[in-house]
Amino acid sequence: MVSFTTCVYIVLLGFGGLVRSYYTEPYRPQFHFSPQQNWMNDPNGLLYFNGTYHLFYQYNPNGTTWGFMSWGHAISTDLVHWQHLSIALECESDSNGNVLQMFFSGSAVVDVDNTSGFAVPVGKDRHGHVIYSQPMIAIYTSNYPTAHNQSNGVVIRAGQQSQSIAYSNDNGLTWTQYEGNPVIESPPPQYADQYQQFRDPFVFWHQPSSKWIMVASLAMKQILLIYSSDNLKNWTLESQFGPANARFGQWECPSIFPLYLDGNMQEEKWVLLMGINPGGVITASGSQYIVGSFNGTTFVADPSNVYDPTQIPAGSTVFQDFEEISSTFEEIGWNSTGDFAGLGPQNASTVQVWNIEGCLGIGVLTTYLFGDIATGTITSPTFNITNSYISFLIAGGYYPYNPSTAGTPDDNQVSFSLVVGGQIVYSETGTDTEDLVWRNWNVAGYIGQEAYLLVTDVNTGPFAHLHVDEIIFCNTPKNEANWFDFGPDLYAAATYNGLSVPDRTVIGWMNNWGYGQNIPTSPWRSAMSVPRNLALKTINSVVRLVQQPVPSLSSLYTSTLYSRWFTTLPSGETTINVPSPYNTQMKLSVTFKRGSGTKFGVILRSNATDTQETVIGYDFLGQSVFVDRFKAGDNSFVNWQPNPFPGRYVATLPIPSSNTITLNIFLDWSSVEVFDSTGQVAITSQIFPLDASAMVKLFSVGGTTKDLAVTVNGIKSSWTS
Ligand SMILES: *[C@@H]1O[C@H](CO)[C@@H](O)[C@H](O)[C@H]1NC(C)=O
Ligand SMILES: *[C@@H]1O[C@H](CO)[C@@H](O)[C@H](O)[C@H]1NC(C)=O
Ligand SMILES: *[C@@H]1O[C@H](CO)[C@@H](O)[C@H](O)[C@H]1NC(C)=O
Ligand SMILES: *[C@@H]1O[C@H](CO)[C@@H](O)[C@H](O)[C@H]1NC(C)=O
Ligand SMILES: *[C@@H]1O[C@H](CO)[C@@H](O)[C@H](O)[C@H]1NC(C)=O
Ligand SMILES: *[C@@H]1O[C@H](CO)[C@@H](O)[C@H](O)[C@H]1NC(C)=O
Ligand SMILES: *[C@@H]1O[C@H](CO)[C@@H](O)[C@H](O)[C@H]1NC(C)=O
Ligand SMILES: *[C@@H]1O[C@H](CO)[C@@H](O)[C@H](O)[C@H]1NC(C)=O
Ligand SMILES: *[C@@H]1O[C@H](CO)[C@@H](O)[C@H](O)[C@H]1NC(C)=O
Ligand SMILES: *[C@@H]1O[C@H](CO)[C@@H](O)[C@H](O)[C@H]1NC(C)=O
Repeated sequence: MVSFTTCVYIVLLGFGGLVRSYYTEPYRPQFHFSPQQNWMNDPNGLLYFNGTYHLFYQYNPNGTTWGFMSWGHAISTDLVHWQHLSIALECESDSNGNVLQMFFSGSAVVDVDNTSGFAVPVGKDRHGHVIYSQPMIAIYTSNYPTAHNQSNGVVIRAGQQSQSIAYSNDNGLTWTQYEGNPVIESPPPQYADQYQQFRDPFVFWHQPSSKWIMVASLAMKQILLIYSSDNLKNWTLESQFGPANARFGQWECPSIFPLYLDGNMQEEKWVLLMGINPGGVITASGSQYIVGSFNGTTFVADPSNVYDPTQIPAGSTVFQDFEEISSTFEEIGWNSTGDFAGLGPQNASTVQVWNIEGCLGIGVLTTYLFGDIATGTITSPTFNITNSYISFLIAGGYYPYNPSTAGTPDDNQVSFSLVVGGQIVYSETGTDTEDLVWRNWNVAGYIGQEAYLLVTDVNTGPFAHLHVDEIIFCNTPKNEANWFDFGPDLYAAATYNGLSVPDRTVIGWMNNWGYGQNIPTSPWRSAMSVPRNLALKTINSVVRLVQQPVPSLSSLYTSTLYSRWFTTLPSGETTINVPSPYNTQMKLSVTFKRGSGTKFGVILRSNATDTQETVIGYDFLGQSVFVDRFKAGDNSFVNWQPNPFPGRYVATLPIPSSNTITLNIFLDWSSVEVFDSTGQVAITSQIFPLDASAMVKLFSVGGTTKDLAVTVNGIKSSWTS
């Protein structure tokens, strides 16, 4: 009895206070990296060296929003368990409190050959020969908020961004800034005016040319500059790339790296990966990639990877280009209600459209008529679906169609939808810019059915308008960009230096500038995505960058907690029992075929009435994976309009010849990442559900789903296991 009590007491004292309460605050990621406290954004200086993965990151030591930017530091031996280290590069201020230097994003390398001259003797081997350090070099952007003169004579202008280096001879624990900083003071002369928007150097050793290569961004120009160097100090501009594809925002955090196509070492290709903000696939932040070649000086994109916005796919039919700007909607066969009654297409130059380069002419459908206050609907004539895709240009505010509020007083949609059989089967909204971007609906599953298009603007708030143009029917999608992730919360993706080509590993910032500084977490804000392995695969004769969580994540899996085969899953919802605590931290895998139903999926973090739920599914008609977080929990932390947080995210995934789809879903306390087994689809979303919403359900819509295998493994906390 005594020893039992003592034992309990020790457990409580030893672990109750320390281990059990570690990383258990509401929404605290259990198997994702997050700082113990304060604000974090981009991953920086990802470097594998001598058995250790280094993760540096943009960090505010002073608060939970952006500011005082410094490089935080953590290390891991498996990319799963992380040890926090002290700040590597800390924001510098003068005695009056003026910030002199912030350490913005960048990369890190190991200078094995002492090209930099930073190596120092660290001891002697058993033959008495001197052993030298292998210096770690960080290459980063010095952001100088305050004009000042440096002690080395360099004159700094207010707001200047320059590229600098620092070195460490103790494996990254302590850092010394190079006395000759900055190593690239200004952009090239033709871009001299961009000196405040020049950043995010990614550096790697290019063996064939025996040089260091840097790619850095002229963010507002959507241009990447490629430099080379022998010593990391003197840099020569070699070439530039861009703008291309997704380009209506800032290009940030670029990287360039080789991969083998289909695992064939003879077929090396190069990938440019970059963040774009705003102008991502959904709203604000996103990531795109471009595949091509690199010869030591110049990146050349594969022609198949550069999308001309004015080039519509061969064989397309133009359904409506809104060129008849002196006609009413009724006169062109459409109809309109509310404030749009009696009106028609407008001259794009006279309304608020910024980018019209994708337009084939001058006319555009717009709901920006006498400002944002105009409301009503605009409807196309009924047509029969004959092609696999409907593609169109769209711009405007982000007010998505939300099926659970549509038609109610809470309805705030400004949307463009496809109606088939009386149901909205697809809906798109703006991305909070006035730049027209291409979007595609895969309607292969609806061929032969009657449909119409519907613009609904019930909203009079700020940015509550939409522009739509160039509606085409085509058999291949009109691509605008290769999106790296189709969710809202994957930005500034960076890859590891120091690994072999097939081991290319990426970590992204799992947040979005559209709302990231407001997410309801404390005392930290922001997490990283799970680390993912990259590969290049030819799929349907197109080269695609594919991704999967790193295999080492499986070290956190519990034994199988639920496993079941359904020859047929009936229409409706089927609750499955996943024991606590793993109903909020799990890997859930589903493999399935289409039965008589049209959609299959999984509902996570739900309550009995589904008033709260995160829905992940597959649409057999649209041949797409979707994640719906309209009802996923708290979104009241966004207290402005439009609220960019609620939404439904869709990624095309054609049904393969096996007719079988596999989705792997990684659920943590405030995020869900969905991957398909081919790696083509990744959808990353944050969610902020109530603790009590922890039910797990399967669903099939409109009939059955066949040959369904469901497997659930819990994922243990990487912070306490
Ligand atoms: C690599 O790690 C081993 C074991 O920790 C250590 O003995 C060795 O000095 C390290 N090498 C370098 C170059 O840092
Ligand atoms: C934190 O903020 C205070 C006051 O705003 C400032 O004096 C201090 O230098 C900051 N610390 C860092 C590390 O930037
Ligand atoms: C590294 O370079 C510096 C400067 O050239 C030199 O002083 C030092 O001896 C070198 N160390 C090694 C190991 O070559
Ligand atoms: C920097 O030095 C120059 C002279 O070289 C002087 O004109 C200028 O005022 C100084 N700027 C600041 C911010 O101290
Ligand atoms: C950079 O190159 C210039 C000219 O080639 C040379 O004079 C200078 O010493 C070099 N600086 C460094 C830090 O290597
Ligand atoms: C690399 O390719 C570019 C563009 O094709 C070309 O101008 C340049 O000469 C090439 N450089 C090398 C080192 O082959
Ligand atoms: C469209 O508007 C622009 C700018 O006001 C004008 O120059 C152009 O002539 C107009 N085009 C047509 C077809 O009305
Ligand atoms: C508008 O068009 C839709 C679809 O063609 C049709 O159902 C509806 O009756 C039309 N409304 C008016 C007022 O013409
Ligand atoms: C759609 O196709 C059906 C069957 O061919 C035909 O009866 C109908 O009139 C068509 N509808 C439209 C709007 O073209
Ligand atoms: C479901 O969640 C909502 C919050 O979205 C809550 O108000 C409601 O009480 C919950 N219902 C059940 C049955 O748990």
